[in-house]
Amino acid sequence: MSKIGDYFASQCGNPHGVVGKIMTWAMNRANRVLYHGIVHELQVSEKTNILDVGFGNGYLEKLIYQKSKCFITGIDISPDMVKKATDANQKYVDSGRMKFQLGDCCDLRFKDNSYDVVTTMNTIYFWSDTAKGMSEIFRVLKPGGVFMNAVISKEKLDKFFYTKNGFKKFTKQEYIETGKKAGFRRIRVKILGNQYGLLIIYIK
Ligand SMILES: C[S@@+](CC[C@H](N)C(=O)[O-])C[C@H]1O[C@@H](n2cnc3c(N)ncnc32)[C@H](O)[C@@H]1O
Repeated sequence: MSKIGDYFASQCGNPHGVVGKIMTWAMNRANRVLYHGIVHELQVSEKTNILDVGFGNGYLEKLIYQKSKCFITGIDISPDMVKKATDANQKYVDSGRMKFQLGDCCDLRFKDNSYDVVTTMNTIYFWSDTAKGMSEIFRVLKPGGVFMNAVISKEKLDKFFYTKNGFKKFTKQEYIETGKKAGFRRIRVKILGNQYGLLIIYIK
């Protein structure tokens, strides 16, 4: 495995510094089909409480809020991304409806049944404990709440030079199984962009 590949993988899993900013900017362009997959599927009102896990530079938050005002809390393990996403969405943060904070989805500091919707995009590959992350998301969702997990398909990820180390890659069936084990009662998978990505929709 090349050193540059390992470096890219570590920046994807925890973006930091100038390279982290450039990489998250590039992700905004490369992964349009995933952002739009989530935004298209979301049904939100002004009262909807959304948690986004691993927001990077906060691009998804901007798209969601521009579609429909709601309350959005983002958590990310990267302090640099907390600053970047806050700066990029300052006017929405100032409105009191959006906030970005440090946090790890494997150990969520929120009460049970707090959120109507949890979103995440291109983060599950990096969670230290996938089963714990899934059960934490299940715990903080309200009954009937929705978890939207947008990912690049395993087939596609396998083609990228930097995903050999540092990425946990799951098949469609594994995404379904891990959701069932966490307790989700209904699970639906949408194929995005000619097999580029998957949107797995889990209902509590
Ligand atoms: C590839 S980036 C995706 C960023 C953003 N979701 C997007 O698609 O534009 C992965 C992000 O997940 C964050 N992350 C990784 N593991 C995490 C975890 N366990 N809990 C919360 N955030 C995490 C990283 O710091 C990084 O910002």
